[in-house]
Amino acid sequence: MKSFATLLSAAIAVMPFVTADFIPAGSAAHFFSSQNTSLVFAPSAAASGADLQAALAEDGSSSDITALIVTAGTGVPGQISYGGLCISANGVVPESSNQVLYVADCDPEDAAQIWTVNETPATVSNADGNCISLGRPARGVPVILDVCNDVLLPHEIWNPKVVA
Ligand SMILES: *[C@@H]1O[C@H](CO)[C@@H](O)[C@H](O)[C@H]1NC(C)=O
Repeated sequence: MKSFATLLSAAIAVMPFVTADFIPAGSAAHFFSSQNTSLVFAPSAAASGADLQAALAEDGSSSDITALIVTAGTGVPGQISYGGLCISANGVVPESSNQVLYVADCDPEDAAQIWTVNETPATVSNADGNCISLGRPARGVPVILDVCNDVLLPHEIWNPKVVA
């Protein structure tokens, strides 16, 4: 029987080490989960306080709540928004009962709304070293904040694609 360590290293070896598409500043993008490429992260409603959840990507039109604007573009800290709402980590604590991300009215002064869309690996991180993460890849599952690290990385890979 293989040891747990052997199985773990095999799992890491087959994990795709993804480089994200470059997203220009101000473009809307779908952030596809590497765990299930049909799923993206999106607000559950166009309302301040709505949780972020795993959703099926929609059509990319201006009413597509799953197409999120990357204000500063890949590699540059900025907001991720839809209709004046921004993804917020304010009050969100990894691995606590308040770990679910949500959207709040965009406020450029709020450091908790600042994210970096990274190219390699294709994570979305904040200045605290935390990443946007999805535990179980299924529609409607809450999207959480978790520590960016190698063990959790398979849950933290999102491939952004600019919407047409
Ligand atoms: C991806 O997620 C969707 C929505 O939850 C589900 O219908 C589909 O079966 C999943 N695909 C895979 C390959 O698991």
